[in-house]
Amino acid sequence: MAHPEKQDLPPLQHIAIIMDGNGRWAKQRGLPRTAGHAAGAESFRRIANYCRTLGVKYLTVYAFSTENWKRSQEEVAGIMRLLRRYLEEALQDMEKNRVCFRFFGDLSRLSPELQKLCRDAENRSEEYDVQVNFCLNYGGRDELVHAAKSFAADVAAGKYRAEDLTEELLATYLYSKDVPDPELIIRPSGEQRTSNFLLWQSAYSEYVFMNVLWPDFAPEHLDQAIAEYHRRNRRFGGV
Ligand code: IPE
Ligand code: IPE
Ligand code: MG
Repeated sequence: MAHPEKQDLPPLQHIAIIMDGNGRWAKQRGLPRTAGHAAGAESFRRIANYCRTLGVKYLTVYAFSTENWKRSQEEVAGIMRLLRRYLEEALQDMEKNRVCFRFFGDLSRLSPELQKLCRDAENRSEEYDVQVNFCLNYGGRDELVHAAKSFAADVAAGKYRAEDLTEELLATYLYSKDVPDPELIIRPSGEQRTSNFLLWQSAYSEYVFMNVLWPDFAPEHLDQAIAEYHRRNRRFGGV
């Protein structure tokens, strides 16, 4: 849905999406959950492309949480297979698509093949328009624990004193180092919770919850979410 003021407003710098609802989409069609994840991957391709045309600089997507290991071995293996295939293709098309990749999360629990694909994708630094931050085995709490441990190690090594810690310094220990906080976080699927996504970075983000399943999420839904964002009055604690 186009909205009249769209052309006049600067594009959002950073949009984050909790890509939820793949399982329900598959169930509605009598398909296995993995088919929902495959459809979700297509949806991601479409939206990443659309973000690039809008001039969005950073797109952060929640692909697999630290809690998603609770799912059946079959479903987890299916998701990992899809991720591998997606990254193999993306590595070939990065220049054409003008994207670069970063990965947020503890990658050490992923298979060595998948870890290598992630490293390869991250090490390519060609010209690009949009940076995709892929959250894989990501948890907001896990990210904070990881940051605290890294800072403690630097204190032990004499690089800092404990009292040197500030919000700015802590942010440099997060997976999102050097990435501005998202202005907008979208959760499709009808659920209204963060599920451990970007706990630190979302302090002043605008949340838009939408009643559409991720595989059905189309560019017009992103337009709707952005229009809703522009209707909000962001105060950051001021008046
Ligand atoms: C999101 O879709 C994908 C992952 C969490 C990996 P879901 O698989 O959570 O779909 P629903 O919520 O069960 O519909
Ligand atoms: C959040 O969705 C994680 C991803 C989309 C990757 P979940 O489906 O795992 O979250 P809950 O279980 O509904 O909170
Ligand atoms: Mg879900």
